[in-house]
Amino acid sequence: MFKGGALQSSNPSGLFDNAISDQAFNAFQQYMRDKCGIAIGHSKRYMVQSRLDNILRETAISNVNDLIDALIKNTLPQKIKTRIIDAITTNETYWFRDGRQFDVLTKEILPELTKHPFNSLRIWSAGCSYGQEPYSICIAMQEFARLHMIKLPKLQIIGTDLSHKVLDIARQAVYSEYALSRGLPTPLKQRYFVSSEQGWKLKPEITSKVSFRPFNLLNSFSMMGKFDVIFCRNVLIYFSSEVKLHILNRMIASLKPEGSLFLSSTESLPPGLSGLKTLQGHGTRYYRRMD
Ligand SMILES: C[S@@+](CC[C@H](N)C(=O)[O-])C[C@H]1O[C@@H](n2cnc3c(N)ncnc32)[C@H](O)[C@@H]1O
Repeated sequence: MFKGGALQSSNPSGLFDNAISDQAFNAFQQYMRDKCGIAIGHSKRYMVQSRLDNILRETAISNVNDLIDALIKNTLPQKIKTRIIDAITTNETYWFRDGRQFDVLTKEILPELTKHPFNSLRIWSAGCSYGQEPYSICIAMQEFARLHMIKLPKLQIIGTDLSHKVLDIARQAVYSEYALSRGLPTPLKQRYFVSSEQGWKLKPEITSKVSFRPFNLLNSFSMMGKFDVIFCRNVLIYFSSEVKLHILNRMIASLKPEGSLFLSSTESLPPGLSGLKTLQGHGTRYYRRMD
């Protein structure tokens, strides 16, 4: 069991009896890196402490160090493990984030893909958080088809995330006024959402094309199938270069020939990655599988 660290030894009053010890924090950092790929810096120590404190209240365990010990020894109920991972992930997202990438998707990629009318389109939003990303993809494509009076091929958009909490909300597809105010143009709110007691509910013409499943990007991609387009934006920023490289190599293998990949516009490819060519369009950058 982890003992108290520096804070406790200089704490005769016992005020910090529940403070996370150095040993427990290091073990937690390593656990999150190994199991989820997430690198937690030392500056996040108090964030970890306060989020784990909240979870302690749901257990019979009395302090954070013992909670971490039980996590590592795999003696916690699955529900508490899930709560810990949910609490540590950063889920910031909003509608049409990095808006120019949606112009590339609809104006460059979609016309090429729809040249073959019998194709079905598969798109993966990896690290989809509360659903704004996959739903924005679907709305953008639907809008393009409506404005240009074209019929979209069969569309399958899959949102995946490590966090069960965000996926539950994504599946409900009900958002607050505030959540919609972050990036969603008013005409699209009027066209694709209906007001309900719980909030703004996305219409079935969008939700029927988007499905969600829990998935850890460190696991094998073999069950995911092949995709025309992959969005993996603002996810790999939490990972080390090696983990990034490992994930991206497998993403390239999951793209169909000539398939496209979007990272966020502030991210870049890690050194040593081959198999993608960089393209520019509509003031942004994206990547295409080289075959
Ligand atoms: C900052 S959000 C980005 C959401 C969205 N892609 C966007 O750009 O708006 C990052 C998401 O990645 C998820 N994530 C972190 N590590 C992951 C992993 N190992 N496997 C799958 N998802 C992960 C988090 O749970 C979180 O919801």
